[in-house]
Amino acid sequence: MSKITMGLICVLLLAALLPFALVARSRASMSPSPAIHLILDMDKQPKYKAQRPSSVFADGRSMRPQVAGTVALEDLSIPAEMLNDPEHPRLVGGNEGFMLANPTAEAAVTLGRVRPSGMTDEQFAKLTPPADDKDLVADTTFYVKTVPAPFHVTEDFVKRGEERFNIYCSPCHGMTGYGDGMVERRAQDLKNGPDPAAAQTWVQPQNLQEAKILTRPDGHIFNTITHGIRSMPPYDKQISISDRWAIVAYVRALQRSQQAGPTDLTAEERQKFGK
Ligand code: HEC
Repeated sequence: MSKITMGLICVLLLAALLPFALVARSRASMSPSPAIHLILDMDKQPKYKAQRPSSVFADGRSMRPQVAGTVALEDLSIPAEMLNDPEHPRLVGGNEGFMLANPTAEAAVTLGRVRPSGMTDEQFAKLTPPADDKDLVADTTFYVKTVPAPFHVTEDFVKRGEERFNIYCSPCHGMTGYGDGMVERRAQDLKNGPDPAAAQTWVQPQNLQEAKILTRPDGHIFNTITHGIRSMPPYDKQISISDRWAIVAYVRALQRSQQAGPTDLTAEERQKFGK
């Protein structure tokens, strides 16, 4: 083999290493130009960037204004000047402007909890489980037993609760509270369908007619709505404090409706039905 052939082979061998060297270099170094995509990623697609014009909308803006009345979740606390404002009677969050006589009354209404009078904020804070206590210790002495003042369980109040319950609770718990709402039925359909795994983690909504729930104090149900419980999500962002109490009153009405007995009849009715 001549020297020239040997030299050529050496050069070719070195040249063959070059692509590896280039790959190694580009992996280790930074470049301002975009990476080469053999298969395009989703970030390479037609889209509007912030503050760019658009020919689609009449006002020429790609950034669309928020729908009137939009409120960011973190802005839900109520400014002092709005408290007791009759134009905002059902604001969610804060204490909704209830004129509350003292911390005990306030704890009953806004937390559904018993706050012994004379207790300092620190002492009460120790007694109050954190808001993310998803298991809500069912200590019956800890929660108010009935819907607290200033609410009155009137027919209108219960009707408001019925309306809100049907909107927020019935999809899971069912219109009569037996835990058989549409979402639950759909989950059962999925379980019996071709892909049972789709509903594997589904927890059946609690039957609200069970003895266990009949004996829960009203304040506990209020807390369940406020913070959620185990696999049930919280509704404090959607449902105002007064509506939460109205729902509690309606849950009681639903339970009562399934517990009727002969003693609920008048003497006349009892005679008529032979009870
Ligand atoms: C998305 C479905 C869903 C919605 C909507 C829902 N719940 Fe529930 N709820 C559940 C599930 C699931 C459980 C059982 C949680 C568990 O045991 O993991 C439950 C449990 C409960 C319990 C029993 C808690 C306890 O003391 O053990 C009450 C009371 C209750 N829900 C009331 C309500 C009320 C009132 C509403 C309407 C404001 C509501 N739920 C809306 C799914 C839902």
